[in-house]
Amino acid sequence: MEFIKLDIEKVFGFVDKSEVTGLKEKAVAANKALENKTGKGNDFLGWVNLPSSITEDELTDIETTAKKLQNEIDVVVVIGIGGSYLGAKAIAEAMTDTFAALKGNSEKPAVLFAGQNIGEDYLTELMQLLDQKRYSIVVISKSGTTTEPAIAFRILKNHLENKVGADKAKELIVAVTDKSKGALRTLADQEGYKSYVIPDDVGGRYSVLTPVGLVPLAIGGFDIRALVQGAQDMEAKCHSSAATDENPAIEYAAARIALYNAGKKIEILANFENKLHYLAEWWKQLYGESDGKEGLGIYPGSVDFTADLHSMGQYIQEGERTLMETVLSIAKPNYSLTIPSDEANLDSLNYLAGKHIDYVNKMAELGTQIAHVDGNVPNIRIELPALSEYYLGQLMYFFEKACGIGGYLMDINPFNQPGVEAYKKNMFALLEKPGFEEETKMIKDRL
Ligand code: PA5
Repeated sequence: MEFIKLDIEKVFGFVDKSEVTGLKEKAVAANKALENKTGKGNDFLGWVNLPSSITEDELTDIETTAKKLQNEIDVVVVIGIGGSYLGAKAIAEAMTDTFAALKGNSEKPAVLFAGQNIGEDYLTELMQLLDQKRYSIVVISKSGTTTEPAIAFRILKNHLENKVGADKAKELIVAVTDKSKGALRTLADQEGYKSYVIPDDVGGRYSVLTPVGLVPLAIGGFDIRALVQGAQDMEAKCHSSAATDENPAIEYAAARIALYNAGKKIEILANFENKLHYLAEWWKQLYGESDGKEGLGIYPGSVDFTADLHSMGQYIQEGERTLMETVLSIAKPNYSLTIPSDEANLDSLNYLAGKHIDYVNKMAELGTQIAHVDGNVPNIRIELPALSEYYLGQLMYFFEKACGIGGYLMDINPFNQPGVEAYKKNMFALLEKPGFEEETKMIKDRL
């Protein structure tokens, strides 16, 4: 079995090897604390051995639900936000033909999302599409009370009921939520929706391998077994019982925290395969919500190369020197395409005739790495052997483990997100939500 490869060599011009080695020793202890549940936030560590604890029965149940729905629909609308959205979106985006919707020849249902914003136009345009499509809804919320998905679900549930009737709609709606708490659990039980449980000890941004990610992906026809297998293999590789020197989570966590301590406060996740755009959005939530607290944390940003080399490239090369860059590279594309020769050669590209497009991409990547390192941006490189559910499963578990370890290296709790409540409190006060009368009065005095 092949693994994703991590290369931190281009970090050492910026921090001493001994610095990283020292942090690695602490990271080994942090890894054990995660596994033994002895560190901060230890009631949210269900994700640590999640891949290896998924049972055959759980996978079969999800696949059975998926098959039943696939026969009846063209589209599945996944309603959720944050951790209840980004994992499935990242895999679906990475593993879908970019032009599938326009080609119109896919036998898989298209996976669309709602409840991840409060856009009136977005929902209206979505419903205009759904007027013409056979669809089902997967509504996902761990708390079961989050405003954005709750609004979207109320609207789309009405839409579906008006379209197919209340009884049929119940068969086309799947709920993924807490086992007993929250408005969505009450609704799901009352209406008799097929439902799946998000374990108590798995937080939203670590939940991609629970039904949160697996149910929508299975309905969309993605290979959830390969995803889980990849995560399982990476779980074993990152386990404290495996060789420390071959544990990429320890190495990545130590390298990025060493750079942070040396003043590199912003990490950019760069891809040279733009299908990984949403993988970076998932990564930003994972690291942003886990690290960014108590006045600490590396700010996670992302860029799609080479497109963004023509926009953000200037800043990365010459702006404030607080950046580090982590590059996601795919070793081998899934297709093969070469540049043709041209007799007139008016575009002067014949020097590339016969070369693969991917060869040019790889040279752009190498040239960028050299330029950015020369410009004082340290570089970490992660190579996936290919773009597949299996390697994405490896990558996601690797990022999760490294995130937990890195949080412990900064001595923060990487598994809470207290700061997310501030905007909600103000929004509820401004919307005059019952129970927020005092906050409403206070906020109105400030306007
Ligand atoms: O990581 C988290 O916990 C959050 O980002 C949640 O995933 C997000 O707020 C959605 O919450 P819920 O699933 O309760 O609707």
